[in-house]
Amino acid sequence: MENKEKKTKDSSPMKSLLVLYSYHHHNTEKIAKIIAKVLDAEIKTPQQIKPEELLEYDLLGFGSGIYSAKHHESLLELADELPQVTGREAFLFSTSGMTGDAKAAKDHATLKKKLELKGYILIDEFQCKGFNTNSFLKLFGGMNKGRPNAHDLKNAEDFIKSIKRTQGS
Ligand SMILES: Cc1cc2nc3c(=O)[nH]c(=O)nc-3n(C[C@H](O)[C@H](O)[C@H](O)COP(=O)(O)O)c2cc1C
Repeated sequence: MENKEKKTKDSSPMKSLLVLYSYHHHNTEKIAKIIAKVLDAEIKTPQQIKPEELLEYDLLGFGSGIYSAKHHESLLELADELPQVTGREAFLFSTSGMTGDAKAAKDHATLKKKLELKGYILIDEFQCKGFNTNSFLKLFGGMNKGRPNAHDLKNAEDFIKSIKRTQGS
């Protein structure tokens, strides 16, 4: 167990990390890059991370495409290996073939539960459509061509700016 002191406006800058796995069309990577720019955050894959290392960060974002209605297996495995924390904040993001508030909540539920079990407070979540050529879809040119688009990226930027405003206050 460990304690977290919340950053104040006068303290050192908030240190953020995005844990990202994006392989299908690098859709989620596009979202991660916008988020990383706003937060001045590093981006690492689960494979590049030692679980204890995450304690160095004030804010964590976990993101991937949605594969079989969940975040990527490597994020789920990392969550299982994380040390127990108290009151640390994290957010989730993803891109997927189908979207909607209920769909996002369902897609994110597995990772959310694992992180909550480790003591993380999930402060917000973001999902948008991503180009999908999985399975038979490739025969028809795929679905969601061009997504994430400029509008999705703007929504991602607004999402993370709103989180940033709540940090350090
Ligand atoms: C193996 C596989 C399984 C997928 N399963 C789902 C799914 O269950 N639900 C969904 O909405 N989209 C699904 N998709 C679509 C992806 O979530 C979508 O294309 C996403 O943007 C991929 O992200 P990435 O390019 O960052 O890997 C699947 C794609 C692949 C390749």
